Amino acid sequence: MPETEDARPWVPPDGGIEDLRAAATGCHGCELWRDATQVVFSRGSASARMMLVGEQPGDREDLSGEPFVGPAGRLLTEVLDEAGIAEDEVYLTNAVKHFRFEHRGKRRIHEKPAVAHIVACRPWLEAEIAAVRPGVIVALGATAARALLNRTVRIGEERGRIQESAGPSASPVLVTVHPSSLLRLREAEDRARGRRGLADDLRRAHDVVA
Ligand code: URA
Ligand code: SF4
Repeated sequence: MPETEDARPWVPPDGGIEDLRAAATGCHGCELWRDATQVVFSRGSASARMMLVGEQPGDREDLSGEPFVGPAGRLLTEVLDEAGIAEDEVYLTNAVKHFRFEHRGKRRIHEKPAVAHIVACRPWLEAEIAAVRPGVIVALGATAARALLNRTVRIGEERGRIQESAGPSASPVLVTVHPSSLLRLREAEDRARGRRGLADDLRRAHDVVA
């Protein structure tokens, strides 16, 4: 079978979230499905007013089939709580729905998705936005920001402000750091500051729909 360009042939038109979730299990829109355990679609309420978009599932998510269940997800859950945002207010998904990794011995090391994977997977994200119609979308990190704004985004320069999206949803987008970037900080003080910054950004986005 020839490689296809993107996920479009698998995306049901006008699908609700459960239709999309079911259809995504068969997606061969790029090659990432081959080595991954399963597709990791999304979590949360289809009537949420706030959508959070991450990069791609990690090792733990690939094995469990649920997004944001590993260390970065745990941190995100804590920071949402600190920001006073209830879990049932948010819909959580990723720009790319299959885990991309490299084998290193027995370990699977996360590898950033390429632009081609972001582009291939974007029809799923667009369909989710059309189904949920969130009042605000938070891009967690550069991969999500690229998927949502269709351009290269420097997180340091653009984080924390509400911007209009170029996408079909017209939902405003706020770009912020990815929680995994905070896990990489060595100094406790830097981590604490990073957490406060992420909580502030999440609160600012939440204010749009509050
Ligand atoms: N990081 C992400 O971006 N998404 C996940 O689901 C888990 C970790
Ligand atoms: Fe389809 Fe996205 Fe998985 Fe590629 S990463 S196979 S486009 S669901």
